[in-house]
Amino acid sequence: MTDETILARSFSRSDQRKLQYGAVFVCLLIALSISTALKPYMGPLASLNLRLSTGDGLKMLVVKESSYGQKHEAAATAKENVTKEVEQLCAIDPRSDYCAINGDLRIHANSSTVFAATIPGMATFGNGSRAIRPYARKGDMTAMSNVREWTIIPPTDPRSIPQCTRNHSVPGMLFSTGGYSGNNFHDFSDIIVPLFLTSRQFSGQVQFLVTNYNSWWVRKFHVILESLSRYRLIDIDKEEAQVHCFTELIVGLKHHKELIIDPLRSPYSMKDFREFLRNAYSLKRSTAIKISDRKRNKRPRLLIVSRKRTRAFLNGAEIAQLAETLGYEVIMAEAVSNTSRNAEIVNSCDVMMGVHGAGLTNFLFLPQKPVLIQVVPLGGMEGHSKICFGDPARSMNMSYLEYRITERESSLMREYPPGHIVLKDPAAFHRSRWSVFKSVYLEKQNVELDLNRFRGTLLKALELLQA
Ligand SMILES: *[C@@H]1O[C@H](CO)[C@@H](O)[C@H](O)[C@H]1NC(C)=O
Ligand SMILES: *[C@@H]1O[C@H](CO)[C@@H](O)[C@H](O)[C@H]1NC(C)=O
Ligand SMILES: *[C@@H]1O[C@H](CO)[C@@H](O)[C@H](O)[C@H]1NC(C)=O
Ligand SMILES: *[C@@H]1O[C@H](CO)[C@@H](O)[C@H](O)[C@H]1NC(C)=O
Ligand SMILES: *[C@@H]1O[C@H](CO)[C@@H](O)[C@H](O)[C@H]1NC(C)=O
Ligand SMILES: *[C@@H]1O[C@H](CO)[C@@H](O)[C@H](O)[C@H]1NC(C)=O
Repeated sequence: MTDETILARSFSRSDQRKLQYGAVFVCLLIALSISTALKPYMGPLASLNLRLSTGDGLKMLVVKESSYGQKHEAAATAKENVTKEVEQLCAIDPRSDYCAINGDLRIHANSSTVFAATIPGMATFGNGSRAIRPYARKGDMTAMSNVREWTIIPPTDPRSIPQCTRNHSVPGMLFSTGGYSGNNFHDFSDIIVPLFLTSRQFSGQVQFLVTNYNSWWVRKFHVILESLSRYRLIDIDKEEAQVHCFTELIVGLKHHKELIIDPLRSPYSMKDFREFLRNAYSLKRSTAIKISDRKRNKRPRLLIVSRKRTRAFLNGAEIAQLAETLGYEVIMAEAVSNTSRNAEIVNSCDVMMGVHGAGLTNFLFLPQKPVLIQVVPLGGMEGHSKICFGDPARSMNMSYLEYRITERESSLMREYPPGHIVLKDPAAFHRSRWSVFKSVYLEKQNVELDLNRFRGTLLKALELLQA
């Protein structure tokens, strides 16, 4: 799946109605999400949610909405009668639900059910059940419509409990590789970081059970998956004829904020996560260059993340030339699907710069104390740029510089007459249709940096490397 297919998604009319209660948050302006927690950052895009167009997007959504979507939604609403007992086992976070259960647990994939046959210390169980979609972007109807729903049932009739066909000796962890997987930002923010946060405590002694199995995704991140679990992962949706049994099971993943682990809520931090990545990918550099190291004639390495189709640097060669005259060694690279390769390149650099987009997510592979430069294109994306990359970078103690382009540095200047609303007032323009906004600012905009202006940012980055 590419950025483009995600961009192609839209909302159905019923989804729009559901959206009214929350704020829409657009990360990378690719995926739409709702989260009340993010409300304070809502920029001009807040108004978008009420004006999402249906049009042609609707057709695609209907196709995309798998059998898990609407069909199960109705069933779940009727069925869901949550008992206090089941609820105690489940955490309800703004962005994800997850349940951690100990007892006699049996997964019957054919009916998407987890039977909690017995749970020690819980004599009466009632007739409740708990529906859960194990993907950390709760509230985002578009993402969640692509996530299989599982039901946790504490049965009252022992005869209805299926017999185990496979007993596991280690805890199980059920999560989805559906949702927005395939977009590098969402891969990390919705799955990888939550998976680390939830499974690290088991030191590899955990069995992953993947629903909405995406083989491309599993290949892309096999290094990470194999570092978190010593067991071959199970494509649980295919296990129709099996009943997998566990004495400990976690359904769903924990999530704090976009690419942020809150150390007050976890024994782990993003520092641990990045150390984990460094070990998993055998990355050489733990710390970025300090300018004082330059006596050995080493120049700081600047990575320019290039994009080809949209939000590209039109004067990449000139930017590289400028950086070299300022004392950088310059590497220009595009994010690729080979994560090991991205990790190696990014880790070899001290400063990373790129236009707001999913490729910037590879900043996680930078060594400690680097500088991240995010170039923010026209379109009122400041709030989103901050949440997706600015805040996470700061929380990881990276130096973060934001370069907001001016009208003159946008390719849109050539397409619209001076003073046009697209250039002068993106916020007002947002009030028109989402699809129009998307195609203008995200898909049809390239940037040509003003070298005199950008020079200051590159010098500032050098200064920060001295600190
Ligand atoms: C939910 O459970 C309560 C008590 O356990 C029961 O009175 C009620 O009828 C149940 N509702 C549904 C819809 O099953
Ligand atoms: C569970 O449901 C059955 C029938 O559906 C009912 O007879 C029984 O009383 C219920 N038990 C509880 C604890 O609600
Ligand atoms: C799984 O464990 C249960 C309880 O220990 C046992 O009764 C059952 O035979 C086991 N099933 C398999 C397939 O090993
Ligand atoms: C799965 O369930 C369907 C009915 O829901 C049934 O027809 C089918 O035989 C089941 N498959 C297996 C392997 O048990
Ligand atoms: C991915 O990149 C790594 C490191 O550059 C390389 O060793 C490996 O062969 C690549 N894998 C594939 C499938 O291209
Ligand atoms: C950031 O720096 C502070 C102070 O030096 C330190 O306590 C904290 O652990 C660091 N956090 C990360 C994620 O590296």
